[in-house]
Amino acid sequence: MTKTRVLTGITTTGTPHLGNYVGAIKPAIEASQDPTVQSFYFLADFHALIKCQDPKRVQESRREIAATWLALGLDTDNAIFYRQSDVPEIPELMWLLNCVCAKGLMNRAHAYKGAVAENEEAGIEDADRGISMGLFSYPVLMAADILMFNAHKVPVGRDQIQHIEMARDMAGRFNHLFKGNYFTMPEAVTDEKSQLLLGLDGRKMSKSYNNTIPLFGTEKQLLKSVRKIKTNSLEPGEPKDPDTCSLFQIYSAFATEAEVAAMREQYAAGIGWGDAKNQLFEYLNDHLKAPREHYVELMEDPAHVEAILKRGAERARDEAAPMMARLRSAVGLGNFI
Ligand code: TRP
Repeated sequence: MTKTRVLTGITTTGTPHLGNYVGAIKPAIEASQDPTVQSFYFLADFHALIKCQDPKRVQESRREIAATWLALGLDTDNAIFYRQSDVPEIPELMWLLNCVCAKGLMNRAHAYKGAVAENEEAGIEDADRGISMGLFSYPVLMAADILMFNAHKVPVGRDQIQHIEMARDMAGRFNHLFKGNYFTMPEAVTDEKSQLLLGLDGRKMSKSYNNTIPLFGTEKQLLKSVRKIKTNSLEPGEPKDPDTCSLFQIYSAFATEAEVAAMREQYAAGIGWGDAKNQLFEYLNDHLKAPREHYVELMEDPAHVEAILKRGAERARDEAAPMMARLRSAVGLGNFI
C-alpha cells in the first residue's frame, strides 16, 4: 500500500506560540501517527532568509522550533523531520522550476502584490522598492519543497493556498513540457481551527499583531501573559458572554467538551475575570508542564537535536537524490554515459 504523503514547512523566524500549537503543531503531530500516512515536516529556513537578515534570530528560531516539535512528542522514526537547508536538492529543483514557471504567475502572488501595494500606497515611485528576488520567487521555492517529495496533502494556513495552486501549475507545466508524470499534484489542506485561537487583544493570535502567548515561556511568563488577556469591565456575579471572550476561546482549544460546557456555565453564573484567568492559567500550565521540561532539556542539548535533524535530512535526501537524478535526465542534464 502506498502511503499518503503529508508535507508541511515551518518558516523559522519566530518563537512558537499557543496559536501555532493549536493551529499547526498539534494537528500535524497527530496526523503523523496515522499508519497510512508518511509525513514530511521541515524547518523552512531558506524561506526564513526572505524575511529576516538577522542570523542570530534565524539560528535561535530554528533551535526553538525544532525543540518545540520534539518536546511535543513528534515521533521522528515515523515522520521525516529535517531542515530545508540540509537538502541541497531542494534549491536545485527550484532552478528547474524557475525555468518553467511563468513570471506573470509570480506577479500575481499575494505576498509580492501586497508589498507592491504598500509601496504604491506610500507614494513610492519604484513599486518594487525593497522587494528581493527571494520574496518574488518565494512560491517557486515552496513548490520545490512540495514537489520534490511528491506530497499529496499540504496542511497550511489559508494565506498559503495560492502557493499550493502555483505548485500545481508548475508541476503540470513541467510534466507537460518534459512529457512524463514526474510530479504528483499536491492538494492544500486547511484546518479551520487555526483561525480560532484569539490573542491577548481579542484579535487572531499572531506574531504580526504582537498579541501572542509563548508556548514554552516559564510558568511566571505564562501567568503574566494570561493576566494580560483583555476582558471587559463586567463585575463578578454579572453573567458573561463566552463566545466573544479570548479567555474562553483559548480554554476551549485545550479543554475537553465536558470541561468547556462546565466553563460555559461558570460564565453564565458570572465568574469573575480574575478567577477565570486563574483557571485558564492552571489549565494551560498543567497541560504544558511536562513538554516544557522536555523543551528546556532539548534546548540545553543542541547536539542531540542536531543528530535528529541530520538523520531526518538523510532520509529526505534518500528520496530527493534519485528524484533529482531523474529530473536532471528529463531536462537534458543527465550523465554522458
Ligand atoms: N510558506 C509557508 C508559511 O509561511 C512555509 C512553507 C515553506 C511551506 N515551504 C512549504 C508550507 C511547503 C507547506 C509546504 O507558512
